[in-house]
Amino acid sequence: MTQLSGLLDTEAIRKDFPVLDRVVHDGKKLVYLDNAATSQKPRQVLDALNEYYERYNANVHRGVHVLAEEATALYEGARDKVAEFVNAPSRDEVIFTKNASESLNLVANMLGWADEPYRVDHETEIVITEMEHHSNIVPWQLLAQRTGAKLKWFGLTDDGRLDLSNIDEVITEKTKIVSFVLVSNILGTVNPVEAIVRRAQEVGALVCIDASQAAPHMPLDVQALQADFVAFTGHKMCGPTGIGVLWGRQELLEDLPPFLGGGEMIETVSMHSSTYAPAPHKFEAGTPPIAQAVGLGAAIDYLQSIGMEKILAHEHALTQYAVERLAQVPDLRIIGPTTAEDRGAAISFTLGDIHPHDVGQVLDEQGIAVRVGHHCARPVCLRYGIPATTRASFYLYSTPAEIDALVDGLEHVRNFFG
Ligand code: ALA
Repeated sequence: MTQLSGLLDTEAIRKDFPVLDRVVHDGKKLVYLDNAATSQKPRQVLDALNEYYERYNANVHRGVHVLAEEATALYEGARDKVAEFVNAPSRDEVIFTKNASESLNLVANMLGWADEPYRVDHETEIVITEMEHHSNIVPWQLLAQRTGAKLKWFGLTDDGRLDLSNIDEVITEKTKIVSFVLVSNILGTVNPVEAIVRRAQEVGALVCIDASQAAPHMPLDVQALQADFVAFTGHKMCGPTGIGVLWGRQELLEDLPPFLGGGEMIETVSMHSSTYAPAPHKFEAGTPPIAQAVGLGAAIDYLQSIGMEKILAHEHALTQYAVERLAQVPDLRIIGPTTAEDRGAAISFTLGDIHPHDVGQVLDEQGIAVRVGHHCARPVCLRYGIPATTRASFYLYSTPAEIDALVDGLEHVRNFFG
């Protein structure tokens, strides 16, 4: 096996992930390279979920009985873990949602119902980028349609980076919110947060960062990012599905109105009006995803026991190796940065004129799981004049041998299609 520096002890780590032992298609060992879509779950997270349901299951914040108190402590304990994981100044700044899409929709709707100074109307502008996931495009389109605000965006350079050459024209005195992805799910690009935040702050605009492809892979510090909101999801970072996070600055969460109404988010209710609980509960209507939050807490414990810096170094070494090896495959074109320096561990590519769905299917027959399609980032495909890409994405348990398997698999795809 290839020796690269900075790699984790994947032999030990892989023992924690039962599914990685799967054999598919008549004896082919699973090579799971679809981590940007969702990560696999370690035994520690599966056990935490089981234990929660076997020993503690109750509704939170409501009961006076022992299970309700223990479930509440576990749920709120998960909030503490998330707060520490992202270096939030306060645990009350961590809102649990269903996923990153819901987190981003929540921000758009907080602003959609807000009064001055946050009010979005026909005189204001919303700024996003052309490399956003649909979950950071559609909520803003909806908000713009509802309010008459103008939606603007940063375009892309030919090599898959944000084109910030016109930053002063895109972000102007009219801009109320700038919402952008930290690491692109399709291009892998790591975006220059500082430059964008600096300009947004100059004009007094709020900043929202989609960190869905960052939180699982690198240390995330919301204070260092200087954003106002940061969204991410649990299932891409070894946690269960059904749990997302929105971190927001405390004073904003105090000022901005709730989006969903219901139980738990209120202080008092009469038939005429209601008052609201303080954040984060103001934004968590109804029974929350309790077991999922507990699972996310276990995932954070797991990731921290390995170390986010070490996970980043591991993925960086793998990405560098993958970029080099993929460059040797004839007719393969990487869509996105071709150096490992400013990119994450998701690599999209096309292979001659073989349709990505065909590439994915022939790889699958060899046990290799990748994602194909527009990856919920269709404007990126339109920008580069391609219908879709094949995407391989790595995580802490990925190995150089799996990248070798991918490269061999692609050779097989080329032979298959002549
Ligand atoms: N956002 C996930 C992906 O990029 C689903 O595959």
